[in-house]
Amino acid sequence: MRKSLRSFTGEIIPADVVQSIVLGASRAPSSKNTQPWKLVLVQGLALESLREDYIAAFKKSEAPAFEYAYSPDPLPEAYKKRAIDLGKAFLIHKGIGREDKEKRKEHDCENFRFFGAMQVFFLAVNKGEYGQGTFLDCGLFLQALMTELDNRGLGSCPQYSVMAYPGLLHKHIPNSENLLFLLALPFGYPKTDSAANTFVSQREPLENYFRVVE
Ligand SMILES: Cc1cc2nc3c(=O)[nH]c(=O)nc-3n(C[C@H](O)[C@H](O)[C@H](O)COP(=O)(O)O)c2cc1C
Repeated sequence: MRKSLRSFTGEIIPADVVQSIVLGASRAPSSKNTQPWKLVLVQGLALESLREDYIAAFKKSEAPAFEYAYSPDPLPEAYKKRAIDLGKAFLIHKGIGREDKEKRKEHDCENFRFFGAMQVFFLAVNKGEYGQGTFLDCGLFLQALMTELDNRGLGSCPQYSVMAYPGLLHKHIPNSENLLFLLALPFGYPKTDSAANTFVSQREPLENYFRVVE
């Protein structure tokens, strides 16, 4: 069962393995085989300087500047409840009290550290070349990518939160002015002794989202 993993060992996945993962994911379907996805792998020194800027932006509480809205605003009540429940359950699982401001800030900062991953994929589309369905194609590609990683014992966690600072991505990723970044996907070998990685998120009962008509 795939799940989000948020703590990684320092091991680097070699270039040939990364390529086979990406090639496997490229078998994802897309409408009319348009394959609108772009994928950038950031690692090494480039990732370390990007991470440093991200942590600084988070610590300064820099205003978010999302380039696309992920969710309806306001969030429908049922979605809001699930999001709140997830946040609470994850904090409890990590043993962080709601009133422990210091630990909660550290916990929130984890996103902006890309959970300590040594390699991070950034999924994007060309600016001005997308419709709503393009995002569906990219979602299928993302799922295929996570499955390819999972099949090799590697973990990953999709991240929209870090899209708050697209300026930093454009700064650190050369020739990216024409890209609309959709999501980050830190990945690597999961640390097995980490509380973050033993967390399992809940799902709605089947009858809440599935029905049969015949
Ligand atoms: C598009 C997308 C964006 C997400 N953004 C974040 C994020 O910024 N930070 C994070 O910790 N998890 C993020 N997640 C992971 C979700 O919280 C996670 O998928 C959900 O809680 C279900 O848990 P599971 O992936 O372990 O099954 C994101 C997932 C998706 C699909």
